[in-house]
Amino acid sequence: MSNSRETELLHTFKGIPFTTRSSPELLKSLHTFDAREDDVLLVSYPKSGTHWLAGVITKLYTTQVTITSPIEFGDISQLEELNKLSSKRIIPTHLDYNMLPPNFKNKKCKMIYISRNPKDTAVSMFHYYRDNPNLPTVDTWTAFFDLFLKGNVVCGSWFDHFRSWADHKDENNILFLFYEDMKKDLPKVVKEISLFLSLNVSDNDIQDICKKSSFSEMKNDSEEENSDPSHTVCALTSNRKLIFRKGAVGDWKNYFTPKQNIRFQEIFNEKMKLSKM
Ligand code: A3P
Repeated sequence: MSNSRETELLHTFKGIPFTTRSSPELLKSLHTFDAREDDVLLVSYPKSGTHWLAGVITKLYTTQVTITSPIEFGDISQLEELNKLSSKRIIPTHLDYNMLPPNFKNKKCKMIYISRNPKDTAVSMFHYYRDNPNLPTVDTWTAFFDLFLKGNVVCGSWFDHFRSWADHKDENNILFLFYEDMKKDLPKVVKEISLFLSLNVSDNDIQDICKKSSFSEMKNDSEEENSDPSHTVCALTSNRKLIFRKGAVGDWKNYFTPKQNIRFQEIFNEKMKLSKM
């Protein structure tokens, strides 16, 4: 990875690497952000299925809701834009729990955290690093694997991110979801989300939402859409075409060497020892 290019694209705030699409001024101001009681936060570490979940959630509402840009995206004026919105806000974010504006916590806003097998997340992020011009270039999977394990990637360590949220998993306003469960039984997870959001959705509508949220449907939609820079649920790109790659569980097996798998597992066990999950 070239260091000068890395400096151009990434900066560190409170020890966590962010892209320059998240300005330091905005990150510094986040703690003053004024949450509304009916805000819903859609939280993830990158490459965990954020767009999939966003697609499902927006289809669940029959009333007007706005899926906003991520709260950490843009410059400081972005926060004012969010404040101006009159409709209900669904706010995506990749922020660590500790960096979340305290107002969301104090007002007990509903938050949905989606997680994914970190090995698949790492492979998905490797491809994202290669395809996304907003991220530094990585030459090989081996090089990326080391960066991922050290947390030297955008949004920092997967382990720290997951743990920061898992420590709050028992709070009533937080729903924990797993990508693998969505792959296994999407209607069941959609039902769970609708109950959490207190939305009355019929079984027929759930079936319809699941059909429209399949990987192939969403990939087709993204190919037809024109990228609108003001419409993104990921602070790392506005280009939805970069998102829908393979959509599979277990792709890590095509990348991890047996040695890498053992090393990953050891670090996972060590880091997760104290996790509530
Ligand atoms: P892969 O790179 O493994 O294919 P995010 O939205 O958080 O950036 O996550 C992107 C990952 O979610 C990508 O994983 C993408 O293919 C997958 N994904 C997006 N929509 C999906 C869907 N409808 N079904 C299954 N996987 C989906």
